[in-house]
Amino acid sequence: MKLRSLTTAAAAVVAAITFLFSATAMPSATMADAEYTFVVSQVNMTHMCQEMSVAVVNGQLPGPAIEVTEGDSVMVHIVNLSPYNMTIHWHGVRQLRNCWNDGVPMITQRPIQPNQNFTYRFDVVDQEGTLWWHAHEAFLRGTVHGEWWEKDLAKVGNNMTNGFFDDYSSGSTINGKLGDLFNCSGVPEESYVLDVEPGQTYLLRVINAALFSEYFLKIAGHKFTVVSADANYVNPFTTDTISIAPGETMDALVVADAPPGKYYMVALPSQAPPPDTQTPEWTTRALVKYTSPGNGSASSDDDVPEAPVMPDNHDTISSFYFHGNLTSLRHRRRAQVPKEADEHLFVVLGLGSICRNGGLSCKRGNTDEIILVANMNNVSFHLPPDMATPILESQYYHHQNGMDTLHELSNGPPVTFNFTDRDLIPFGPKEMALEPTSRAKLVRRFRHGATVDVVFQSTGMLQGDSNPMHLHGHDMFVLAQGLGNFDAARDVATYNLVDPPRKNTVLVPNLGWAAVRFVADNPGAWFIHCHYEFHLSMGMSAVFIVEDGPTVDTSLPPPPVGF
Ligand code: C2O
Repeated sequence: MKLRSLTTAAAAVVAAITFLFSATAMPSATMADAEYTFVVSQVNMTHMCQEMSVAVVNGQLPGPAIEVTEGDSVMVHIVNLSPYNMTIHWHGVRQLRNCWNDGVPMITQRPIQPNQNFTYRFDVVDQEGTLWWHAHEAFLRGTVHGEWWEKDLAKVGNNMTNGFFDDYSSGSTINGKLGDLFNCSGVPEESYVLDVEPGQTYLLRVINAALFSEYFLKIAGHKFTVVSADANYVNPFTTDTISIAPGETMDALVVADAPPGKYYMVALPSQAPPPDTQTPEWTTRALVKYTSPGNGSASSDDDVPEAPVMPDNHDTISSFYFHGNLTSLRHRRRAQVPKEADEHLFVVLGLGSICRNGGLSCKRGNTDEIILVANMNNVSFHLPPDMATPILESQYYHHQNGMDTLHELSNGPPVTFNFTDRDLIPFGPKEMALEPTSRAKLVRRFRHGATVDVVFQSTGMLQGDSNPMHLHGHDMFVLAQGLGNFDAARDVATYNLVDPPRKNTVLVPNLGWAAVRFVADNPGAWFIHCHYEFHLSMGMSAVFIVEDGPTVDTSLPPPPVGF
């Protein structure tokens, strides 16, 4: 049985793979239950008086939604008519024993070159709510999915990898619409409009598809009841503001119980306060409009919409509390959180520098002798441009030459310091000493079935950013989060081992930490990275290699025919 969502909305863009729960899960058929063709091409679009050539799927921005019922098998044919290399990643889909279809260039597959095709196949099992798809090549997830940039995104990606950071988007969107805060010669841009009938309940599937910012989402005069996050049910809670980081998804119910009229739905990006460098960010808004059942509008055209009072854009603490409110709803088919872990990693998320001359010594700090890079435990992820074999393939066929240059992610950082020292935020001598970083194909191997604890620690290095860390192929139990430096002696006792939320993307608060636990039960090579595109392009990522288990059922099958 296929259900339809009552409505779809989203902060800072959208195009959702929407997984709708039905009580009767269908067995996977040999053919797919849902089959789609995605044609990626360049089209011209004009916004704010400026015509841009952007890469999009099926001519639309955001791209098409995939609607499936839990248990469905999905087949998506990609036809790449764009001038760029392309892969599509099915963000949050568990891909059990199906790493070949995860869509990460040179990690799980070779990119789909211009004028080539590729077919993805996967099943959606034990996941309910909203997940999403996006391009996983450089910055292209920007438009392939739907943000507004007056820039060549392939170039932006290249710039950031090489340490140049002067590129910013020109606007934010809700469902691809910039809304009336943007204009062309005084004529407002089109707004996304959500028509509602008094008394009805609406499910909003909210995705933060933005490249750079956490967002607050609010509707004047209405409340949200959050029921799911990252396609896992949560214990419902009511709030007037949703906080959502790039890569996260939230399902929220909204009851149209306000006096009939018009209400703004506002998405406001947030950033850490000074001394962090303040970057241009854009608020966008849509309209919630009451209609009467049957015939037309219950609000007149000249009603002035009511606007919500938004949090301060530096209010990072509200996001911290919002995420602290997430707990998982008990589910008879879902495994409980394991009570103990086999491995413990402490991963410090930092920014550092490498010397442009390729050597180890150069002038650090605010100079052009260095390239700024992001890192995990002081190693910045880097795939050599001439790499011939994707990591998954090397791993599967035990190709020695691909594997012997891998660098193992350490259990902790090389030096311990006061990670959240605010003096580290501006350029200065303290932070320069901590900068030197190496670049490598950073991986970590796990035995099949190992229970792994990872504490992610944000730092004040260069900027006080938060870090939405996304793990492919697994959900993580978020055991705890805190501000300041993680202290095992104090903080392990606060771990939630009763109903921790399951997330594929965990928001590590700025100048704080988050502790997660996951079971490495999915053989393959899984990317783990910050979902801020600039942190990712600067190297804040690694590959978790999960080894095969003892049986066929716990091992990765060979690559699909025609791979
Ligand atoms: Cu949504 Cu590896 O990404």
